Amino acid sequence: MTTETLQIDVQPIAKSRIDEVDFDNLVFGKHHADHMFVADYVNGEWTDLKIIPYGDLSLSPATAALHYGQALFEGMKAYKNDANEVLMFRPLDNLARLNRSAERMCMPTIPESIFMDGLTTLLRLDAAWVPTQPDCSLYVRPYMFATDPYIGVRPSDTYKFVIFCSPVGKYYAKPPRVKVETEYIRAAEGGFGFAKCAGNYGGSLNPTRLAQEQGYDQLIWTDAREHKYIEESGTMNLMFVIDGVLVTPAISDTILDGVTRKSIIDIAKYWGMEVQERRVSVDEVIGAIQEAKLEAAFGAGTAVVVSPFAAIAHQGIDYTLPEITEESFTNKVYHYLSDLRMGKVADPFGWVIKA
Ligand code: COI
Repeated sequence: MTTETLQIDVQPIAKSRIDEVDFDNLVFGKHHADHMFVADYVNGEWTDLKIIPYGDLSLSPATAALHYGQALFEGMKAYKNDANEVLMFRPLDNLARLNRSAERMCMPTIPESIFMDGLTTLLRLDAAWVPTQPDCSLYVRPYMFATDPYIGVRPSDTYKFVIFCSPVGKYYAKPPRVKVETEYIRAAEGGFGFAKCAGNYGGSLNPTRLAQEQGYDQLIWTDAREHKYIEESGTMNLMFVIDGVLVTPAISDTILDGVTRKSIIDIAKYWGMEVQERRVSVDEVIGAIQEAKLEAAFGAGTAVVVSPFAAIAHQGIDYTLPEITEESFTNKVYHYLSDLRMGKVADPFGWVIKA
């Protein structure tokens, strides 16, 4: 079976694994849908496009990505509308970011036709895996890595691009408690903090684990020079509602340009709310908590969607944050975004695309 637009060789699974999954108790990242899209970059072009049953990849022990970290990924979500059609949310924004990451990591970019045809063919084939349960979705994980079986330090000549999907529920079961990190850093100016590359996540694991041992769920990363300004969190961008204004650190080369973050900014503006993208100091946020001006602090990301924090810890003090009310911006934007993605409300932004 071959699709008409691009030559994608589709090899369907003999027997679906979908009955093995309890869709009423989905855990993030545990189950993977039946198929995956795979393309190989060889001799300067993407070739051998195929959809095959989800399964192990065979790799040389010398695979370049495993040694020098030429590896990057994206995170997107697909939903179903009432007519049972599969909807994608801003996939071209993810592709644009993937290609920005690729350029920084000296990797090839992915043409739109390959990305979109691979993605839509995969989503149509695995449409049954898109959950319809509340707060659930099909998480889509495109990623690329260097495949040269060579351990000299240089950019690889060959790469593999894969997309697989996972039915998921909420990323955080309850509002996370986050700690302001003032010892370790995530990214520095001129580095690659803006890129969604594997190393940015690998380097965050030990500081995050140390915080978890102290009873926190995640970190709030601060700037590398002074530990004074808020950057992002391990799994999300950071946003605050202070005195009725949506305040968020401006995108820079140390901060990931989150698709959920920029969607929330556009929605807030559409609703007539003031939005400030700028430097946000830790002192400003702690001061706003102390003066009862901070209405909410939350993480925004594909995986976490909108995730209000229960507490922020700084210099050994835990600051408990206000409960999220029905009427709060956080609650309203979460539900609006969910409704938009599931086609339950009109889409004035043109963000939702049928697979
Ligand atoms: C996402 O939100 O898609 C992410 O990539 C965050 C994370 C699960 C690593």
